[in-house]
Amino acid sequence: MTSDLHHEITQEVKRRRNFAIISHPDAGKTTLTEKLLLYGGAIHEAGAVKARRAQRQATSDWMAMEQQRGISITSTVLQFEYQGYQINLLDTPGHQDFSEDTYRTLAAADNAVMLVDAAKGLEPQTRKLFQVCQLRGLPIFTFINKLDRPGREPLELIDEIEQELGLIPYPVNWPLGMGDRFRGVYDRLRQNFHFFERTTHGSRAAAETVIALGDPAIDPYIEPYRLEYNQLKDELELLEGVGAKLDLNLVHQGKMTPIFFGSAMTNFGVRLFLEHFLTYALPPMAYKSDRGPIDPTQEQFTGFVFKLQANMDPKHRDRVAFVRVCSGKFEKDMTVSHARTGKTIRLSRPQKLFAQGRESLETAYAGDVIGLNNPGMFAIGDTLYVGSKLEYEGIPCFSPELFAYLRNPNPSKFKSFQKGVNELREEGAVQIMYSTDESKREPILAAVGQLQFEVVQFRLLHEYGVETRLDPLPYTVARWVLDGWEALEAVGRIFNAATVKDSWGRPVLLFKNEWNLQQTMADHPKLRLSAIAPLAAAVPA
Ligand code: G4P
Repeated sequence: MTSDLHHEITQEVKRRRNFAIISHPDAGKTTLTEKLLLYGGAIHEAGAVKARRAQRQATSDWMAMEQQRGISITSTVLQFEYQGYQINLLDTPGHQDFSEDTYRTLAAADNAVMLVDAAKGLEPQTRKLFQVCQLRGLPIFTFINKLDRPGREPLELIDEIEQELGLIPYPVNWPLGMGDRFRGVYDRLRQNFHFFERTTHGSRAAAETVIALGDPAIDPYIEPYRLEYNQLKDELELLEGVGAKLDLNLVHQGKMTPIFFGSAMTNFGVRLFLEHFLTYALPPMAYKSDRGPIDPTQEQFTGFVFKLQANMDPKHRDRVAFVRVCSGKFEKDMTVSHARTGKTIRLSRPQKLFAQGRESLETAYAGDVIGLNNPGMFAIGDTLYVGSKLEYEGIPCFSPELFAYLRNPNPSKFKSFQKGVNELREEGAVQIMYSTDESKREPILAAVGQLQFEVVQFRLLHEYGVETRLDPLPYTVARWVLDGWEALEAVGRIFNAATVKDSWGRPVLLFKNEWNLQQTMADHPKLRLSAIAPLAAAVPA
C-alpha cells in the first residue's frame, strides 16, 4: 500500500547518516575509518582495511593497482549500523590517487568529517576539500586526531579553524592532557569525563570510565593529572565565557563546526565522537533538481551518478557507475529512466559496497550509494528517475592543477586516439582543454592528481591500443572566464596567463602560480573568473 511505502521510506531516511572524511594524507583517515567500523561492529579487529590499503600503496604500477581496485571499489562506501542508525561512510580517494573523484564524492555526501592532525593543524588538501564542502553548504564535524602525541595547543588549533576557514568552532569535548599525559576528554554537552585505558594496539574498543562532573569518584583519576586538570578547567572557563554556544542550525548550514579531540590509534574519543556525530549530523535532505528540491521521502526513486570507475578486469571493460540515491526506494531489477538519453534501463546487477566485499543489493534509500555495472551508458552527473522526468544539478568541474599535452606519435592511430580521449573525457577520467592556436590541435590533459594522467595513458594503451606521450605544461591554476570570449577580448592582452578553451569551447586562463592569478585579478578587476567550471548543462553544445 502506498502509505505503507511512504512510511517505510520516511523511517529509513530518518535513520540514515551519510558522510565523507576530508583530510590531508597521514592525518589518520584510514585509522579513524577502521575504528568507526570497529565500533559499528562491521569489523571485529582493526587492521584489515589498513593492511589492504598499504598493499595497494606499495605498488606504483597502475595495472597492479587496478587489480587491487577491489579494495578501492569495496571501500567506495562503507555501510554499517550503530544504535539503530544506518551509516554510509563515503570514501574519498586520497594520497597519490587524489583526483577529481575525491571532489565528486563530496557531491554525494550529506555531512563531512574534517580530520586534523593535532601536531600539524590545517593542511593543503584539507583546505581544498573544505572549500568543496562549503560550496555545497555541508555540515562539517571536526575530529582533531593524535592527541596521544605531542601536538599544538587545543586553543591554538580551534583558533586556526576559526581564523582560516571562517567556521565558528564549538568544541564538544576538551582534552585532559596531551601526548604521554593524554588521559581522557571532558564532554561539555553531557558534562562528564571520559577516562581511557590505553590498549596495546588499539585494535579493540578502548576501555573507558565515564564520571559526571562533581562526582567525587573523579578524584583518583585526576589526582596524578592535577596540572592538566587545572589547565582544562581554565580553558573550559574561557570557552564558556567567550566561546559560542552550540547552534544546530548553524552547524547544519556549515557555519559552525562541532569539534572533537581524540586519538584514532588508541581509540580515545572515537565512540564519543560517533555518538555525538550521529545525533547532530543531517539525515539525507532534498537535492536540487530542475524541478526544484526533491523530497528524499517521495516514493519515486531518483538518483544521480557521481563517480565512474573502470573495472578491475580490463578484458571486460566494464565500468561501475556509483549512484547516490536521492529519493524513493531502489529495488533490484527495477526499471528506471535515464534523463540525458531518454532511455529506459533495467538495473539488473546492482552492487552494494561493503568493507568486507561486494554484496548484491536488494533495496536502497536516499543517502545510500549503489554501484551499477552498465558499461558505457553513464556519464558523471547523469540522473536516473522513475515517474516524471527530472535532472539533478550536476557536478561541477574543479580547477585542475596539472596540465600536459597528450601526444599521439603514430598518425595511423589517429581515430582510436580521438575516440579514446573523447570517451575518457565523457567518463570524467580527466578534463580536456585545447590551445586557442589552431595549429596545436593535440588535447591538453588537465587533472587534479598525477594518477589521472597515468590512468589515461594506461587505458588508452590497453583499451584503445594507442601509445601516447605526455609533455607537461608549467601551469598550476585554471580559471574559467565567466562572461565568455567577448569579456576576455575586452580586457586586451593578459600577461602571465595562457588562454585555452575547455571541451565546450569556453575560455579558460591558465596561470603558473597563484601569484600570477592575483596579479591578473588586480590588473583586470572587471574580469569575472571562477575556479569552478559553470555546469556543462548550462552551456550550449
Ligand atoms: P591516512 O589514511 O590519513 O593517510 O592516515 P593513516 O590512518 O594511514 O595514518 C597515518 C599514520 O598516522 C599511521 O602511522 C598511523 O598509525 C598514524 N596514526 C593515525 N592515528 C593516530 C593517532 O591517533 N595517534 C598516533 N600517534 N598515530 C596515529 P604509520 O607509521 O604511517 O603507519 P603504522 O606503522 O602505524 O601502520
